[in-house]
Amino acid sequence: MMIVDAVPIVNNNTDAFESQCSKVNINHPCRCETSTTTTTTTNVNKIQCDGEYEFNLNGQFKHRLSGNSQDDDLIIFDEFILNNTEISRLDDNLFGQRIRFKRIKLVDCLSLRHISSNTFQQSGPFIQEFIVQGESSLGEDQYASDLFDSMNSMINVEKIWLNRNRLRSIPTVAFGKQTGDGQGDRFARLKELNFNKFSSKNGHIKSVGNFAFYYLNQLQYLYLSHQRINYLPANSFDFEKSSNQTLYIYLGNNKLNNTSFERGIFLNSKRPIHLELYWNPDLTYLDEQIFRPFLEQNPLNRISLQDNPLQCDCQSYWLYKDRQKFSNQLQNIMCKIGPRQTFNIDLISFDKCHQNNNGRKRNKLIVVN
Ligand SMILES: *[C@@H]1O[C@H](CO)[C@@H](O)[C@H](O)[C@H]1NC(C)=O
Ligand SMILES: *[C@@H]1O[C@H](CO)[C@@H](O)[C@H](O)[C@H]1NC(C)=O
Ligand SMILES: *[C@@H]1O[C@H](CO)[C@@H](O)[C@H](O)[C@H]1NC(C)=O
Ligand SMILES: *[C@@H]1O[C@H](CO)[C@@H](O)[C@H](O)[C@H]1NC(C)=O
Repeated sequence: MMIVDAVPIVNNNTDAFESQCSKVNINHPCRCETSTTTTTTTNVNKIQCDGEYEFNLNGQFKHRLSGNSQDDDLIIFDEFILNNTEISRLDDNLFGQRIRFKRIKLVDCLSLRHISSNTFQQSGPFIQEFIVQGESSLGEDQYASDLFDSMNSMINVEKIWLNRNRLRSIPTVAFGKQTGDGQGDRFARLKELNFNKFSSKNGHIKSVGNFAFYYLNQLQYLYLSHQRINYLPANSFDFEKSSNQTLYIYLGNNKLNNTSFERGIFLNSKRPIHLELYWNPDLTYLDEQIFRPFLEQNPLNRISLQDNPLQCDCQSYWLYKDRQKFSNQLQNIMCKIGPRQTFNIDLISFDKCHQNNNGRKRNKLIVVN
């Protein structure tokens, strides 16, 4: 049984019909809104800050509690939206002592480059979703480690999206490094981690650090597609604990080639893996040394190549030879013949590969006879 620290329990019954906005004094260009959704009877409370100029964002949350707020209560909002084109940094303890949010959304924050490491130090455990959407300058080398430090306060987060960032690598043990301090599992709820969801423009990530996601034991969706990844070390997808929950790893539209996967990769993931490899034009075969052990390790492991046809020389023969064995794990493997045509691998003749296989001669007559 795992113990999760400081899980925010929000009691919807006590203040369901009381606006959180009455407890705070929020000024322009920020505003506080309470709305009732049609699907539930609960209020949705949010604070949104817009603007095309800089202002003191931290100041919005310091000493801004109204007479309606009880002395020591935390005031928990559903959402904070920052939609400001000029603010360049978020400072330590952004939301002050008593204001907390379940979702943080940074939308089109064009100038934002630095989220300091303690920005969410107190509010972090309350954050369930951290969404960076649209353009920003987050992830530049000099501030990348602060960005990860700031996210490491979000120990109960379920979903992180960092779209269109400037990250060039995912650091070693990027999340949950500080475990083992007696406070129980961190990041025990993170299911979705996304580094470039909607962009058709490739991101800048070239490499993934050792044990980058190691403590994210509940991760189900890892989006690393639309980047520039060309090498993946053996332990980049190692995890701490075993799980029966499938992890989808999206590596489509990268710079992966025949030798980009270090031997042993995926073998310590300790869970079923669905690997998406579409649109990596230099990946023209799947190295048997890497991908056979992966497929054999767990019958639930899958590889999807989609529109990434292979160049079906003898390097791909193993896929053909064991096509029955791997039929559920590999589907629709296509081979590129000439500049334009693709055929299903079943239709390719691997005659010359038989002969070279361990020096044994294929005896066609006996087979045909
Ligand atoms: C952000 O602000 C711009 C105008 O400055 C507005 O057009 C846009 O709808 C806002 N986005 C959100 C999510 O509020
Ligand atoms: C594959 O990619 C790696 C990393 O970019 C590169 O060093 C290597 O030369 C590439 N291999 C080939 C055969 O192009
Ligand atoms: C996975 O499922 C198997 C079979 O149901 C079970 O024995 C095992 O304990 C499960 N493992 C985990 C980590 O939940
Ligand atoms: C990948 O392997 C194929 C087939 O062996 C080879 O023709 C191609 O040059 C290799 N490409 C790269 C980028 O290594």
